[in-house]
Parts: sequence; structure tokens; C-alpha cells
Amino acid sequence: MIIGVPKEIKNNENRVGLTPGGVFELTKRGHTVYVQKTAGEHSGFTDAIYEDAGAAILDTIEEVYAIAEMIVKVKEPIEPEYDLVKENQIVFTYFHFASSEALTQAMLKSKSVCIAYETVEESDRSLPLLTPMSEVAGRMAIQQGARYLEKPVKGRGVLLGGVPGVTPGKVLVLGAGVVGIQAAKMAAGLGAHVTILDISMKRLRYVNDIMPPHVVTEFSNEFNIRRHIKTHDLIIGGVLIPGAKAPKLITRDMLKDMRPGTVIVDVAVDQGGCVETSRPTTHEDPVFIIDDVVHYCVANMPGAVPYTSTVALTNVTLPYVLKLAEKGWTRACKDHLDLQKGLSIIKGEVVYEEISEAFDLPFKPVAEFL
Ligand SMILES: NC(=O)c1ccc[n+]([C@@H]2O[C@H](COP(=O)([O-])OP(=O)(O)OC[C@H]3O[C@@H](n4cnc5c(N)ncnc54)[C@H](O)[C@@H]3O)[C@@H](O)[C@H]2O)c1
Repeated sequence: MIIGVPKEIKNNENRVGLTPGGVFELTKRGHTVYVQKTAGEHSGFTDAIYEDAGAAILDTIEEVYAIAEMIVKVKEPIEPEYDLVKENQIVFTYFHFASSEALTQAMLKSKSVCIAYETVEESDRSLPLLTPMSEVAGRMAIQQGARYLEKPVKGRGVLLGGVPGVTPGKVLVLGAGVVGIQAAKMAAGLGAHVTILDISMKRLRYVNDIMPPHVVTEFSNEFNIRRHIKTHDLIIGGVLIPGAKAPKLITRDMLKDMRPGTVIVDVAVDQGGCVETSRPTTHEDPVFIIDDVVHYCVANMPGAVPYTSTVALTNVTLPYVLKLAEKGWTRACKDHLDLQKGLSIIKGEVVYEEISEAFDLPFKPVAEFL
């Protein structure tokens, strides 16, 4: 198959759809990979490294879309790319269709085959192509939180790990999912005292089994949250209710109970946030302060560490890319139910129910195409 890797053109998107390692695996199997010039530069991969891995470099995004049978990228196509997507072309990327009717209409018009990373789903209902980004965000939450606890940026002036003779900082983690566990692990590694809350006893049992004794678990309810916010220095929001907005676990009135300079990193801000006062921010301007509480609410945290994020993403997408390249999309999606769940739009028809519901569009079952 001919695979194309365009350079991402969405504002501040520094990741790239395939690493040189991914290119190597594809070309080794006889596939052809075209990478757009400088597509990997912000992730630390030069054109020369791609060429060594077996890719051919093309100068323009138009050439990449024109030649490829399958496009592998990171973000959804944006307006300048809409008309580049061709009939029958496979586009494998994050789409988040339900948040953009313009994108949905453009992809319907293109008659391409759109497979969305975010809905590829394993039999246990986990979302393997979202997990690595939560892992990145969870770990980064502590790195950023530790920085904003510093006094010159209006934090409490607390070093998370403490020093001999001084008690370490306290980190409260809301949600013991992927984000929460990674955050707890990083905070514990720094020597901080960690309290992690969830409504799932299964998750809390798991955390209790794997974490060191200075990570304590508690059931998540308003009483416990109100109690802990008074004494914790850094609060990480990592809750998720699938398919719904995040619950507001910290309300506006609670901010006055926190000590000045307390830092909230609301990772769940991309689903509305679990703190009432959260609003999405960017890497250029990541924080704002309300009632002396520092809010860090960057909606695309992994974008700041494109090397790690690109490699983490390709680690999980590559097995699917290989299946699509080897078998073609119909056979690959027939054989692999997890990949089949990613099918969103096929040749001008919506095949994913939530998208048809979101925009009142006709729905056609995937089975009619396989
Ligand atoms: N900002 C970013 O850049 C970024 C990056 C990756 C993920 N995220 C977001 O982070 C959030 C968490 O993702 P995840 O992969 O860890 O999800 P997850 O499903 O693995 O974990 C969510 C956890 O929240 C728990 N939960 C639900 N309601 C709760 C409550 N009332 N109190 C305490 N816990 C509760 C669930 O039981 C679950 O364990 C999501 O909204 C995700 O979109 C943001």
C-alpha cells in the first residue's frame, strides 16, 4: 500500500503520524511511505532519518494527499486539507467528529474512508489509542503542578518532595484512571504525600495494591473532597464519565477553603473540567488565578512534549496501520473488531451512530460495507 504522512498544520500541533521506526516496519514489508518534508522536525525526526528508514520525502502536502492510498496523521484534517482528501482514501487519525459538523460534512463529501483513533475500542471497552495521551498528561500534570507551586509564579512556595527535616508537599488526585494513576506515580516518585480518590472500589483496590504506602486511597465524595482541599498543595483533576461532561467535583465556593497558592491542574478540562472555575487554556498562556488558586487547564497537554507523544502514539497506532496496509480496510476491519469500531465515515455515509445523532444525518451500519 502507499502510505502518506503529511505535516500537521493545526495550530501548535507538533506531533507527526508515524515515527521513522513505523516507516521502517512498513517499508520492510514492501509498502511505500511518503513523508512530507519537515513533518517530523518538531518531534525530533529529520527528513534524513525518515529517508534512512525507507521513506521518500515529498515537498508539499498536496503531493502527499495526491499519491497516498492511506493517510496516517495525528489531528483531524482542517479546512485547507478538506479538499485534499480523495475518494476511497483511508484517513486514519484523531477526528472527534461529533464536535465539528464542518469536518463531518467535508469528509462525507470526500467519499473517503475515515477511521477515528478515539473510537477504536477493545473488547473490555478500553480505548487503546487514547490511553497513551492520558499517560502523558497524567505524568505531565505533576511536572507542571510542581512548577506552578513555585512562589515567583504565584504558587504556595512548596517543594513537592520536601527536604530532610521538612514535610513533603501533598497532592490530591481526583480519579484513579489512567491520568490519575500516572499522576500519583510521578508525585509519589518525587516523595510527595498522595491522596487519590475514585468512586470505583475496583480502581482503588488496584491503586492500593501497586502504590507505595505514601499513596493513600479514599472514596470520592463531596465530604472527603471538601476536607482534603484544605490541606493539599496540588490538586489533579483526572475524572471521566465516558460520553458525558466531567462532574464538577470542586465548586466555586470551595476555592476559599484552599490555601493561597494552591495549584489545580484540571486535566479533564477537555471534557469540560471537574472544577467549576476551569476553562481551557493554551501552552502559551497556561494558567489563570481565581481566589488566589492557580488553575492550569491546558486542553492538549501532550502537545508540549511532541517527541514523547509521537513515539507513544505510534507505539499503539502502528499495529493497526500494519493491518490496514496488509489487508486493506475492509478485510482488516472485518477481522479486527477493535479497528472496526474506529470506522466513522465510509464513502459518503455515516457509519457511527453518535455522529449521525449529533448532526441528524442518515446512518448506515458498517456491516453493509464489509
Ligand atoms: N488535558 C489534556 O491534555 C488531556 C490529555 C489526556 C486525557 N485528558 C482527559 O483526562 C480525563 C481522564 O482521562 P483518563 O484516561 O484517566 O480516564 P479514565 O477513564 O481512565 O479514568 C477516569 C476515572 O475517573 C473516575 N471517576 C468518575 N467519576 C468520579 C468521581 N466523581 N470522583 C472520582 N473519580 C471519578 C472513574 O471511576 C475512572 O477511574 C479525561 O477527561 C480525558 O479526556 C486530558
